[in-house]
Amino acid sequence: MRRKEQPRLALLLLGLLSLGWTGAQPSSPSTVPTLPLRPEVSPAADTLGDPIFPGLGQAGLDVRHYDVSLTVERPGTPELYGSVTLTLSSTRPLAEIRLDFLGLAVSAVRWNNRAAPYRVDAAAQKLSVTPPAPLLPGQEARLTVVYGGRPGVILDPGFGTPVQLGWQSVLAADGRVGANFTLSEPHGTHTFLPSNDHPSDKATFTTRLTVPQGFTAAASGVEGPVTERGGTRTFVFTQAQPIPTYVLGLHVNRFERVTAPAVPVGVGGATVARRDYFPVGTPPNVRAVYDRTGEALRVLSEWFGPYPFGACGVALVTPRLPALETATLSTIPPNLNTERTAVHELAHQWFGNDVSPATWADVWLNEGFATYSDVLWTEAQGGDGQAVAARWYDTLVRGGSRPLVATREEQLFDRSAYQRGALAVHALRAAVGDAAFRAFLRAYTARFSGGTVSTPEFLAFARAQTGERGEAALRLWVESPTLPPLPVVAGR
Ligand code: TRP
Ligand code: ZN
Repeated sequence: MRRKEQPRLALLLLGLLSLGWTGAQPSSPSTVPTLPLRPEVSPAADTLGDPIFPGLGQAGLDVRHYDVSLTVERPGTPELYGSVTLTLSSTRPLAEIRLDFLGLAVSAVRWNNRAAPYRVDAAAQKLSVTPPAPLLPGQEARLTVVYGGRPGVILDPGFGTPVQLGWQSVLAADGRVGANFTLSEPHGTHTFLPSNDHPSDKATFTTRLTVPQGFTAAASGVEGPVTERGGTRTFVFTQAQPIPTYVLGLHVNRFERVTAPAVPVGVGGATVARRDYFPVGTPPNVRAVYDRTGEALRVLSEWFGPYPFGACGVALVTPRLPALETATLSTIPPNLNTERTAVHELAHQWFGNDVSPATWADVWLNEGFATYSDVLWTEAQGGDGQAVAARWYDTLVRGGSRPLVATREEQLFDRSAYQRGALAVHALRAAVGDAAFRAFLRAYTARFSGGTVSTPEFLAFARAQTGERGEAALRLWVESPTLPPLPVVAGR
């Protein structure tokens, strides 16, 4: 995974992701217990059977909605407490509900408002709840978990220096002013939220965050009214379109919330609220990077179709980390305050957050399209998109690549997922031409909006939309053990 080169600022994001990131850890790992990276999967476990993370999720469980209320009393320390009420249904009888969950202490569980027996299995990273009667298909139930304490620790080995996933805790050098936020891809959300923590079970969210006076909370979705009580402030956010658990974004910091004019690029011409969260003291030149978000929304929605959510913006954080496309509110670290990163994370709102991978093996569909947005944005600025594609190609020639469906965790965010994935998209465009390519992109997001897509479903859809020619171009890039020739999109 470790490579040298990539001096170009332009490739900073990709360089960070493939070089092995070496920034500081957000919280002190010495004080947290060491836990196995992979949960134990007992043979009887009825998980979702993800090819990369076989322990995640529960087969047949469908979480429709999470109603989350969390309190952070001392921002910057890891502790939190609160509750979540999940609206559940199922596609088969479930005598037991098994949620992904790690690290926190449960103080009460209620099933439709009555106490229900439960059990926490830290080794399996599960919270199991027994309802009074099995949950049957067609029924709906409300499961409440009251919990608190220290979030669990899950490390991602794919970035060179391991990244701690899930709930992040940042104390400033003076030890006083602190911040917390989430950074969970792929399986960190269950460190702070009992959940069916797999992208195939998307859900809507209502999130209430209570923080001390002087702090601002932010979360995925559209903000509602703030309530003040006894030295605290409670913020509420509604994420009305279903998203995968890994992109639920939560933030607590001393923020300045900056709004910009709404942009009419939503579904049916709906306006998209524009707001960014800048930590107090963020310099003007850093804020200026986000002056062009409205324009990026217009450019990308011309290609991808209507923006899928009600709000759009960023929340900046202070530790050096990878950037993440948290829904409606991309999370950007100081090392990645670039237009390129902003556009990449914005593209993920369509590819990843609205159209989501069916399994973690399909994550190239996220990163390939998000990376491709660089070509589209470059061209919209009058730049040379083919040159961008040619640079990706050089990277792959020198560093090697693999067929796109991932088989190991270490592959999820490697250069093949990003650059080879993007060149697959470029190959489709080269094969069918710009008009058919644009029509394909818009039909694809419309067809899979709010849902998930696997690589075989993607290829079948490409064949239906663009014919054998389009499918063959994609399939070569998806499947070939060797690197196919560089596709050429001429004359822009
Ligand atoms: N999806 C992110 C991007 O490319 C990269 C990423 C993967 C990430 N896993 C992460 C970022 C964990 C932060 C934490 O935009
Ligand atoms: Zn990405």
